[in-house]
Amino acid sequence: MRPTDTTAVITGIGACLPDRVVDNDTVIARGALRTDDTWIRDRTGIARRRHAAPGTSTGDLAVGAGRAAIASAGDHRPDMLLLATTTPDHPCPATAPAVAHRLGLGTVPAFDLAAVCSGFLYALTTATALIRGGACAMPLVIGADTYTSIVDPRDRQTAPIFGDGAGAVILRPGARDDPGAVIATDLGADGSGHDLITVPGGGSRHPRRLPPSSPDPYSFRMQGRAVYAHAVRRMAQSANSALRQAGWAPETVRAFIGHQANQRILDSVGERLGIAPAHRFGNIHELGNTAAASIPLVVADPTVHTAVAPGERSLFTAFGGGLTWASVALNWPSAVPRHEAPPARPGTKPLSTTDLSRSHPWTASTTTS
Ligand code: UT7
Repeated sequence: MRPTDTTAVITGIGACLPDRVVDNDTVIARGALRTDDTWIRDRTGIARRRHAAPGTSTGDLAVGAGRAAIASAGDHRPDMLLLATTTPDHPCPATAPAVAHRLGLGTVPAFDLAAVCSGFLYALTTATALIRGGACAMPLVIGADTYTSIVDPRDRQTAPIFGDGAGAVILRPGARDDPGAVIATDLGADGSGHDLITVPGGGSRHPRRLPPSSPDPYSFRMQGRAVYAHAVRRMAQSANSALRQAGWAPETVRAFIGHQANQRILDSVGERLGIAPAHRFGNIHELGNTAAASIPLVVADPTVHTAVAPGERSLFTAFGGGLTWASVALNWPSAVPRHEAPPARPGTKPLSTTDLSRSHPWTASTTTS
């Protein structure tokens, strides 16, 4: 995307995390996995993650994050909703219209966008283009996933890695020097690697009505080692492309946030880009890989929010199934993140919003089995 005078500006930030904190030993015991806490920490950087309670869906988490972002934006009403997810509530219809309805947004356009772990940055880029083109003025962009609904708890390659959550931002039109302004974006895809990260069954290629074979075709599968190499290369290339478009030298970036796939991948990408460790931010240790939610959940993390000043040069980069990748160079937003607990099922009690500055949601809950 080429820079223009008018751009999208982040004006609200929200997050929603399940209450259940699940440590590595619990994941290992649940799946009878041949691994240990030390291997998982050393090879991925993950110590714990959140798991949605039974009955809590991606749409529920998206509603919580959306409500929090709207409160963060001063209760202004979004005029479009983009939901990045690959764990929708149902194969049909999209989850976004129901989320918009539950948020009280009336008949605004609402659609899902599926780019796996790159989904949030794909959606942020799409929303930016829609603002620049005049199709909307205040889109709500949500990244939400419930990977516990598709991950096989007996698969040691994936079960320890993924967690559940949702993050969201609200955009408005603004100037390129505003805090929160999107400066440059880069998107890419390479379908020759479509089978490296996949749920093989349940789509039109292998409909769910076919009898399941072994291994279970409806569970998420990832060829971790092959994906690892692609992830490092593509995120570094894409992030460099966004930096070039923005005209920024890597050493001027004050907040680098990569998709929280694996701490070793994040370290390699940061090294390749030449961004000092002090300017790299993440929460993989606490939340694992939350797929489309991973980048907005770092943006909404109160410890990150207080460490970066509004307007400072920031760089987000992501990689995921497809294969897809995406990067966004932006000024750090001034909006104060808000946090919302997962809402009750539709039609039950109203929700309350908690100001993130008063408690740290990533560490507030206790570990459960
Ligand atoms: O979010 C979308 C993008 N996702 C990613 O970018 C994730 C990319 N991949 C990864 O993060 C890593 O590849 C994994 C964490 C999935 C695996 O770590 P790794 O260091 O790449 O391990 P590996 O796949 O190269 O496997 C090394 C060894 C293998 O054993 P052998 O064949 O050398 O005997 C694996 O079977 O480690 C074994 N292994 C494990 N051992 C203990 C794989 N998973 C585990 C485990 N515990 N959980």
